[in-house]
Amino acid sequence: MLAETTLRPEQLVLPLFVNESLSEPRGIPSMPGVHQHTLTSLRPAVEEANAAGIGGVMLFGVPARRDAVGTAACDPDGVLSRAIAVAAEVSDGLVMSDVCLDEFTDHGHCGVLRDDGSVDNDATLERYAEMACVHAEAGADVLGLSGMMDGQVGAVRDALEPGHEDVAVLAYAAKYASGWYGPFRDAVDSQLEGDRRTYQQDPANRREARREAALDIDEGADILMVKPALGYLDVLSDIAAMTDLPVWSYQVSGEYAAIEAAAANGWLDRETLMLETLVGIRRAGAAAILSYWALPAARLLS
Ligand code: PBG
Repeated sequence: MLAETTLRPEQLVLPLFVNESLSEPRGIPSMPGVHQHTLTSLRPAVEEANAAGIGGVMLFGVPARRDAVGTAACDPDGVLSRAIAVAAEVSDGLVMSDVCLDEFTDHGHCGVLRDDGSVDNDATLERYAEMACVHAEAGADVLGLSGMMDGQVGAVRDALEPGHEDVAVLAYAAKYASGWYGPFRDAVDSQLEGDRRTYQQDPANRREARREAALDIDEGADILMVKPALGYLDVLSDIAAMTDLPVWSYQVSGEYAAIEAAAANGWLDRETLMLETLVGIRRAGAAAILSYWALPAARLLS
């Protein structure tokens, strides 16, 4: 009765990985309980999400072929477009897709590169706009713009306007260049060497996140994201206070892996920490949370 914060299944979103090269689902060693799916195993995974009553799924694609510009990302028959179509057919919740090139480029960066190897922000925007339209056409309800290019929200909004104005834009407003993404790079077989510090945010900066959020709001974002979650609750709280838009957070792969590993050693209690971390992220201001624990947490809650 006196609890100030609620945590309900519909406030959770499950990230799902679909790998074009697999014939059977494959476990991700650094993320116990998480799999790369095939297009066939995706269907029952989404049905499980339905049964757990969670808010939706966020889809990531791992293509069979990569190149410098991430051609497969904009292929209507590509793995992610097909995964969106499958999920849209079965899902009771929202179908969300990652609009970013890093899984599709052979260098692993979130954008296309100039000759000197630096990321070309504006050339990347054109790719994102095209990818967003392909996803919308495939049936995505929400587009997750996770690449941290300047102007990405506006570019995608403009591209969607003729015909897909009902599709929502989830803007990763404040995404930090973080060590907590380590296991995700296994999950998508990332080709990245080096880091993303020229386009993701400096962990030292709090005020800059407010500037990033203000830009995304101006450009037409429908939902804002702060990522990772636990190390950035101050940022989440600031952004939730500055806007009436929904603000979400992503409890990322490393946050999941660290607690899973400690729990496997008997050093921490998994279920207690699962609910405590999620309610803490809600308390800091997240309307919804992307978490690899979405299913077990939803089951505990109901
Ligand atoms: C990039 C992307 C990343 C994650 C989601 N989208 C990785 C990165 O920026 O390096 C990380 C999610 C996680 O760690 O769970 N498109």
